[in-house]
Amino acid sequence: MHILLTGGSGFIGSNFVRFALESRADLSITNLDALTYSGNPENLADIEHDKRYRFVHGDIKDLDLCTRLLGEVDAVVHMAAESHVDRSIIDGRPFVETNVLGTQTLLDAARRNNFKGRFVHVSTDEVFGDLPLDQPELKFHEKLPLKPSSPYSASKAASDMVVHAYHHTFGLNVSVTNCSNNFGPYQFPEKVIPLFVTNLIEGKKVPLYGDGRNVRDWLHVVDHCEAVLAVLEKGKAGQTYCIGGNNERSNLELTHTILELMGKGKEMIQPVTDRLGHDRRYAIDPRKIESELGWKPTRSAWPGALEQTIKWYVDHERWWRRVKSGAYREYYQKQYGNR
Ligand code: NAD
Ligand code: DAU
Repeated sequence: MHILLTGGSGFIGSNFVRFALESRADLSITNLDALTYSGNPENLADIEHDKRYRFVHGDIKDLDLCTRLLGEVDAVVHMAAESHVDRSIIDGRPFVETNVLGTQTLLDAARRNNFKGRFVHVSTDEVFGDLPLDQPELKFHEKLPLKPSSPYSASKAASDMVVHAYHHTFGLNVSVTNCSNNFGPYQFPEKVIPLFVTNLIEGKKVPLYGDGRNVRDWLHVVDHCEAVLAVLEKGKAGQTYCIGGNNERSNLELTHTILELMGKGKEMIQPVTDRLGHDRRYAIDPRKIESELGWKPTRSAWPGALEQTIKWYVDHERWWRRVKSGAYREYYQKQYGNR
């Protein structure tokens, strides 16, 4: 099977390329990525020359390019997006442009090709809004209405709806995944875990938003990649699959665990002003994907998986220092020009 993967140079995309090529001998991947600030070809430096991997530098909003690429592949895994909530609060426009218009462009390219292959749209649990802290029995599941609260999650919810509409209207063979917070190697250090870990290595404090009681459901990125592959291979058209780790942690608990694992004290916590509209709690009920597709997380056990992730950042200091300083951009500016 030849897959068109969008956003393959980002955090989850690069982990997906590595995992999918390692676990399926008959699979090849074309990675379409615009190399925005979070797309880093160094994430796949070891794969670059693999005969089953091809990189195409381009934008998912380019209909002619997407049409040509859709004509060459058997399936699509769509991950390209603007992905950071704080950036969407500063400027929502790129989120609507890429996440909504980009997704619609890709779907139009599929229509132009009369594409019959599987199309997996990778989305987020944030489309369901948030849950209260005092009702732990409540979790996100596939039957909930969408109720996004940030400009990021609103753009992802809109894209999910467009995807479902193209299934309903044109019969495209699409499935949507809604996953909880990922952690693991190659995550851009604007997200909380790599930001806190790399700050602590640099001797800096960690900026904890608000009262720190907000809860996230943490899943190792490779468990997410395995779930996406399961949905690609066994999922049903028109269906949504919620993916999560049954691993709820408050930000305060997460921060204390990171500090403990890194041998640092609580004085390294810097309380800062809360994120605007900060969602309180995310938690996933993963029973549908577990029972229908036989997926279960096997790499997310806490705190061992967090400890391994911290070790990855300790061992890959050159990688994140180049990302934090912007130096990694020189690597692709040489190859692909200024963007
Ligand atoms: P990321 O920001 O690390 O990577 C996004 C990638 O998309 C980058 O390589 C970027 O260059 C590329 N891209 C952006 N705009 C593009 C465009 N117009 N055309 C082509 N490529 C473009 O994000 P991530 O954390 O790897 O997230 C990947 C996907 O998974 C997103 O759709 C996100 O909404 C979803 N998701 C993320 C998480 C998480 O915890 N990180 C959880 C659930 C779902
Ligand atoms: O739930 C899935 C989503 O998880 C994905 O769709 C998004 O792409 C991904 O970015 C992530 O969104 P969050 O906003 O939950 O992740 P982030 O790492 O930005 O923040 C996690 C929590 O940590 C959140 O409650 C805010 C808090 N935080 C974050 C940062 C960056 C801090 O307290 N301090 C910080 O500096």
